[in-house]
Amino acid sequence: MRSISLLILLAATLSLQAQTLTIRDLTCEHQNNPLGLDVTVPRFGWKLVSGQRGTMQKSYELRVGTDDKALVKGQKILWQSGPVASDQSVLVPYAGPAVTSRQRYYWQVKVADNKGNSSAWSEVKYWEMGLLKASDWTARWIESDLPGDSVNSPAPMLRNNFTLKKMVKSARLYVTSHGLYECYINGQRVGDQFLTPGWTSYNKRLQYQVYDVTSLVTNGANAAGVILSDGWYRGNLAWENNRNIYGKTLGLLFQLEATYADGSKEIITSNEQWKSSTGPVTRAGIYYGEAYDARLEKKDWSMSSYTAGDWHGVRAVNVSNDNLIASYAPPVKKHETFKPKSLKVTPQGELIVDFGQNLVGWVRFKANGKAGDKIVVHHAEVLDKKGNFYTDNYRAAQAEIVYTLKGGGEEVFEPHFSFFGFRYVKITSPNKLTADQITAVAVYSDMAPTGNFTSSNPLINQLQHNIQWGQKGNFVDVPTDCPQRDERLGWTGDAQAFSRTATYNMNVATFFSKWLKDLAADQVKNGRVPFVIPNVLGDSASASTGWADAATIIPWNVYYAYDDKRILEQQYESMKAWVGYMEARSRNDLWNRGFHFGDWLFYRPNDDTDGRSAVTDKYLIAQCFWANSTQIMLNTAKVLGKEDDVKHYTEWLKRIKDAFLKEYMAPSGRLVAGTQTAYVLALNFDMLPETLRAQAAERLAQNVKDYDNHLTTGFLGTPYLCEVLTRFGYTDVAYSLLLQETYPSWLYPVKMGATTIWERWDGIKTDSTFQTPGMNSFNHYAYGAIGDWMYRRVAGLRETAPGYKELIIAPQPGGNLKNATAELETLYGPAKSAWKLENGVFTLTAVIPANTTAQIVLPDAADASVTEGGVDVGKVKSVTAMTKEGTSVRLTLGSGTYTFTYGMKQ
Ligand code: BGC
Repeated sequence: MRSISLLILLAATLSLQAQTLTIRDLTCEHQNNPLGLDVTVPRFGWKLVSGQRGTMQKSYELRVGTDDKALVKGQKILWQSGPVASDQSVLVPYAGPAVTSRQRYYWQVKVADNKGNSSAWSEVKYWEMGLLKASDWTARWIESDLPGDSVNSPAPMLRNNFTLKKMVKSARLYVTSHGLYECYINGQRVGDQFLTPGWTSYNKRLQYQVYDVTSLVTNGANAAGVILSDGWYRGNLAWENNRNIYGKTLGLLFQLEATYADGSKEIITSNEQWKSSTGPVTRAGIYYGEAYDARLEKKDWSMSSYTAGDWHGVRAVNVSNDNLIASYAPPVKKHETFKPKSLKVTPQGELIVDFGQNLVGWVRFKANGKAGDKIVVHHAEVLDKKGNFYTDNYRAAQAEIVYTLKGGGEEVFEPHFSFFGFRYVKITSPNKLTADQITAVAVYSDMAPTGNFTSSNPLINQLQHNIQWGQKGNFVDVPTDCPQRDERLGWTGDAQAFSRTATYNMNVATFFSKWLKDLAADQVKNGRVPFVIPNVLGDSASASTGWADAATIIPWNVYYAYDDKRILEQQYESMKAWVGYMEARSRNDLWNRGFHFGDWLFYRPNDDTDGRSAVTDKYLIAQCFWANSTQIMLNTAKVLGKEDDVKHYTEWLKRIKDAFLKEYMAPSGRLVAGTQTAYVLALNFDMLPETLRAQAAERLAQNVKDYDNHLTTGFLGTPYLCEVLTRFGYTDVAYSLLLQETYPSWLYPVKMGATTIWERWDGIKTDSTFQTPGMNSFNHYAYGAIGDWMYRRVAGLRETAPGYKELIIAPQPGGNLKNATAELETLYGPAKSAWKLENGVFTLTAVIPANTTAQIVLPDAADASVTEGGVDVGKVKSVTAMTKEGTSVRLTLGSGTYTFTYGMKQ
């Protein structure tokens, strides 16, 4: 009797659980509780969680208020949407009264689904506005009064005491600088962000940060202290002695706003009463590293008890605040830490530490010694063939730490104003450091990890690992080419090549949105897009095909991955200007002028091999990228409803393709350049008439086979190579490239021990010597663009409508893989494709997020009897359609977790 009632209870609970509809992961502008937004129409997002298959949102209701306690009671509502019949749950715009500076807004959402379930009101979330107008700033810009403060001088420190007369209810710090800053209040570091205020085109767009400093301030005497450093603002950039790009003098803008318990306010600002001095950071630079003399530390300098008797004054200067913007992208933070894998002495007698992973960040060490003892740390990505420390590929970047001990106990050090790309460090110190005293810290933009790919092949898994670490190391506030040598610039070509893969691995919506605004800001008036963003190379370093197209490709990719239409609106003029430039400069509809990098770092063997080299005509490439950018304009104009532009780009697209065929293709369909890249681009961008595509694909596949299943593509051809092969039915050839272990291939570096993606296919040659040190980075993400194909085709998980509102799971088993899994946290929730092939039985586990619909394409299933969860697939309720397509079966279905099984020939 008892067990029966227990069973009933259990069944009731289960069905209740299945019925429940809840909401999670509430975001505002892609962020969790953002502080300091300057977006005046913020957008909300949420995910539905439901135990029932086929769940769609039927309606939502939003409410916003400025009092969280009242809000949950449904009182003092500032704006409520009322029930809105809609399935939109991503980037839903706020439509209440105009937002105001500093205000914190609380919000909640509730939803109803198509199964008759309603959620409760969600937890309360908030967003807080930053300072929307230049006049919100009452702080003055201040600069140190110290003499000789412009080149290689110690980092200035600025400080002041201040009093807060009453009990503080909340306190915010709004702060930015010329140069980098690190800020302290009452002896404590403010926040956990590094390299602030980040890197933007400073003179046009300078970010400020907002910190909740309520817990750092106190009723009574307080003090603030800020250290400034050259950073990107005036440090060496791009090449030696190229400095002071944005200005010569470091400066601080600091505004702390305290709200007392009684509601009154106090504003503490940087002004001429502050004092300045120097301290332990005697030199710092992005490429240089950092010199720190602990003997020069000024104990308690950011405490109110400190006497700044011998400090200098500061200058208050008039600087326009019109360029100030709130931070939008994820801040740079510390992430993984690594303990030494080994400590060893090299043949040259140097003590080196191996962390086992090429990473970006720095080393934290603990040391004991006498005052004046020096610890010097150098960084390297690789050891040479003999096992010696190798730094030639850092070029002029010194990448060193010089730490001078103060003596008298254990000292712990981490740099403040630099970062390094390294796997190894060489440490020189009077007292040998032991492994437990050394830790490597990875530092990069704090993007939410969203995707993962694994398979039965450990080498492919290592490749995926390397791609992800390439992304971590090179997404340090801007997307950089490399993180170690005297470069580390926002190279546009590299970024566009990798952008689609990047959207799988991590949420890069705000990261790219911020950088694209800099792209627009730095774009030359006539539409040319600089090689690097922020542009530190001058306006003439611009307009290279495949690089400048970052202006169109990345906004489109970000829009498509996150259904973020605003990025298209935001970038539209910039996109249009770049395409307009090509139109204006073209002759006879050919874009065939000026300098282009071309298919950068394509396969170019030495003369002593067979003399072949995969050179692709640069103007042929340019014509393809022009067509692609025009196609993107056409698509974008459609999304934004710009009819005239749709017409304009439709006409141009035809002209561009016609001119391509005339100039670059023989009537037989053969291209004037017989390279893989030529065929890949022509096919990927639909340059050829449909009737000539199959033969072109065949030529491409043949070319791969002629090179013994090796790729020969560079930066521009590589991202689309496997995708094009799959699209035209040569997935087997694509697999042969993916699995190729000899040079040139993706797995060759893996076999050579790579833990990140290399700049060149043969950074380390087969005889273990290095490629030319002038250009040989071991952490360059561009070739990692293959990650996209692994998610999209091997596991088969991809979007068919923007933002994964509709998705497809169409695995393509092959390459002797026994299994592959792609997992992706979409804006609707987790999606997954996991297939395995075991003893002739194919199993696919598919997870489809609530509020989306999907198609599943089961390979080689046409003649098989397919079951889902043990039931004949035809009887599964949430499968709304099933069709045979050649040897596959295509299903249309709603959200949920499904497991399909059937016999498959191997
Ligand atoms: C960078 C690249 C960049 C290239 C331009 C190199 O120095 O590291 O990755 O795209 O120049 O061709």
